[in-house]
Amino acid sequence: MALLFSSINDDAERWRNILVRELPDIDFRIWTHDGNEIGNPKEIEYVLTWQPKVGAFKNLPNLKYIFSLGAGVDHLKNKELPKKIPVVRLMDPGLTRGMSEYVLFWVLYHHRRMGDYFQNAQQTKWKQFPQANTCIRNIGIMGLGVLGLDSAKKLKALGFNVHGWTRSSKKIEGISTFHGKEEFYDFLRRSEILVCLLPLTPETEGIINTETITRLPKGATIINPARGGHIIDNDLIQAIDNGHISDAVLDVFHSEPLPEKHPFWTHPKINITPHIASLTVPETAALVVADNIRRIRSGQLPEPIVDPKLGY
Ligand code: NAP
Ligand code: GLV
Repeated sequence: MALLFSSINDDAERWRNILVRELPDIDFRIWTHDGNEIGNPKEIEYVLTWQPKVGAFKNLPNLKYIFSLGAGVDHLKNKELPKKIPVVRLMDPGLTRGMSEYVLFWVLYHHRRMGDYFQNAQQTKWKQFPQANTCIRNIGIMGLGVLGLDSAKKLKALGFNVHGWTRSSKKIEGISTFHGKEEFYDFLRRSEILVCLLPLTPETEGIINTETITRLPKGATIINPARGGHIIDNDLIQAIDNGHISDAVLDVFHSEPLPEKHPFWTHPKINITPHIASLTVPETAALVVADNIRRIRSGQLPEPIVDPKLGY
């Protein structure tokens, strides 16, 4: 059985070491730009990929599954993937923990006004701000999937008032839930700190725009570790500059790396991180992929399989 690895990151050897240890009979091959290293294409059953080249997996007649090296699968759009081959997202407890760390860090940073304290400290200014309790702070999480739900539960455990918005209706103990377009604005009205953990699909593209931002309470904070395509950049900047939004934390962008001249870089109310909210770490992620391959070999389905109609 051969597995073809194709990623823009340079961690192929780490993946190889773990997968070969977990599945000793695996023939781990690395896709190169000229495609020369893939060996006999008929032997390739699995592809493991992050941002492949267009058409990279065209002539693999026995391909069974495409595994995404990330939780998101938007990087596979317009890549001319072979039709009807199921795509499996990465659902890795390590990735989930990493995202929750990121979300909790920034929620607490804003909740406890750490930015203001750091700024004051630089001016040797001793000033105490009134302290808000977590139970009166409303957090809104767009998307309560694998990542959003974990963050929501951890924020709830800290005592925050947590609201979640999803496509389908949900009941989750301790979290107030909203779903669909009809309940979106009710959800936004309650979100003093808005966290986006949606997948990027035609329905969610540009979802953070002037129309939706103005539904947030005045002074709200926006945290986006999902995808840059969820935000209309100019609308966000305008909302911060006119004082409706107090600040934003952005980990993902329309174009990555974020271009040097992009106004986000220098905006005093925007914190930028370079798509690191939760990196895929082979030491945990490869175990998940190995488990999925074992499931397939024993006649079960791997999980989670992307619904091609929904795009996530
Ligand atoms: P997931 O398990 O598929 O969850 C997606 C959630 O979004 C679900 O709750 C879903 O609702 C909701 N949703 C989808 N379309 C919607 C719509 N049109 N309206 C309302 N809600 C909608 O995804 P995940 O594993 O949590 O990952 C979320 C995203 O995080 C990924 O797609 C990726 O873009 C991003 N990510 C970023 C990083 C980083 O380092 N920055 C790392 C990992 C992942 P239902 O529950 O009703 O289906
Ligand atoms: C990272 O962005 C991921 O989708 O896992």
